[in-house]
Amino acid sequence: MFYETARNDHGLPHDPFKSCVVPRPIGWITTIDAAGGLNLAPFSYFNACGDHPPQVMYAPSGPHAAEGGAKDSLHNVQETGEFVANLATWEQREAMRLSSSGVPSSVDEFALTGLETEPARLVRPPRVKGAPIHLECRLHKVIELLADDPGRFRNWLVLGEVVGVHIDDSIITDGRVDQSKFRPIARLGYADYTTVDSHFAMPFPD
Ligand SMILES: Cc1cc2nc3c(=O)[nH]c(=O)nc-3n(C[C@H](O)[C@H](O)[C@H](O)COP(=O)(O)O)c2cc1C
Repeated sequence: MFYETARNDHGLPHDPFKSCVVPRPIGWITTIDAAGGLNLAPFSYFNACGDHPPQVMYAPSGPHAAEGGAKDSLHNVQETGEFVANLATWEQREAMRLSSSGVPSSVDEFALTGLETEPARLVRPPRVKGAPIHLECRLHKVIELLADDPGRFRNWLVLGEVVGVHIDDSIITDGRVDQSKFRPIARLGYADYTTVDSHFAMPFPD
């Protein structure tokens, strides 16, 4: 099959795009606003996107239905310039799901989910306790992406420099991050997810 995205004439019951680029890791993003209000939300438009220095991205779309404005994860990072990307895992999948609820800015998703915070070392937003990997990040820049109908719905890309990395010692085996202990979850499109439960190695070409 082929479809032209401007026409969206795929003829399928659901738009297949998000099922084509998979699996997408889930950056569970902690931010704070200028008054110190906490926010936590998952983003599957999330990835590492550079090295030296390490860099990550997440892409909030909006407006947020509950607020009529940008998502807190965009607004806060623009206001205070920092975030923590916590890596979501199988163990914390239910809390991750709940933290995506469309609640007003005044609602702290830590209180909503029962999750606890741990302080970060180099940035003000806290870490999600229990997540085995946390990336402490400083905002590099926000880029506005294309939007079909910007008056209704807009898309942004938040780029951050990773200034500190926490890795729980319990997921390190023989000096390497052990994916079988880490068990990150990732998005597959629709309401489907996967976990990293298998891997294979291939040598770099000469
Ligand atoms: C697994 C998962 C992945 C998500 N990925 C994104 C994403 O990449 N971009 C986005 O705008 N919303 C995404 N969402 C929805 C946001 O998490 C949700 O809108 C959240 O309420 C935003 O919160 P905020 O206003 O507190 O920033 C995702 C939700 C789930 C459950």
